[in-house]
Amino acid sequence: MSFSDIHTHILYGADDGAKTREDAFAIVKASYESGTRLICATPHFHPGYFGDNREQILHSFEVLCEHCSKNYPDLKLFLGNELFYTYDSVSWVKNKLCLPMGSTEYMLVEFSVHSSDDEIAEGVDRLLNIGYIPIIAHAERYGRLKCGRLAALRENGVLVQMNTEAVNGKRLGLGYNKRVKTLLTEGLVDFISSDAHDLTRRPPQMDKSFKILAEKYGHGYAERLCRTNAEKLFCREMTAEDI
Ligand SMILES: [Fe+2]
Repeated sequence: MSFSDIHTHILYGADDGAKTREDAFAIVKASYESGTRLICATPHFHPGYFGDNREQILHSFEVLCEHCSKNYPDLKLFLGNELFYTYDSVSWVKNKLCLPMGSTEYMLVEFSVHSSDDEIAEGVDRLLNIGYIPIIAHAERYGRLKCGRLAALRENGVLVQMNTEAVNGKRLGLGYNKRVKTLLTEGLVDFISSDAHDLTRRPPQMDKSFKILAEKYGHGYAERLCRTNAEKLFCREMTAEDI
């Protein structure tokens, strides 16, 4: 069984993820050895916090691509960004400063955890209006985003990503755990991804999530969330309506 991981911070020196080239290589190695065969590097795009990291992102990605083609020829590597949504960020996206997922029109977007569902819906609309389809990053974190509202966003083509830590039993409170369960049981999640930053605090553990999901919700469901939906997205075999 192989996995696809569409949310990672494996590019060194670009954000709060991998610090050095060796860190990046070690995360990729762990990821590959636990079965991942498709990775999208999604360094933070949050200029107010991480500055202009574009040059470092491109350099680090090039180094990683070279490393992977030598050591893991069957690993598919893509580049994107994790956009931190603010009112101003739409103009950055419009000016193509923020990268979509590979060559797709999908953009991984995180919101402030304090955002209301109206604020998230407004952000989604603004991105849709300029031609990008948001993938809502770690949707389990938004306590004020009601499931009904998320379902309506998905009907408009928006996709939803959940972190492995949520599936793997990281305890962040009753509301959080309940939300994780509801999102999964109501079928409101399209991708499980590691959001890996390192090998200790936030490691790439797609295999663990897959096992837990398969036991609780069935093999087919786990396979879609941990592998095939992402493959379809990047390989453009299907549109979002088919996911
Ligand atoms: Fe992230």
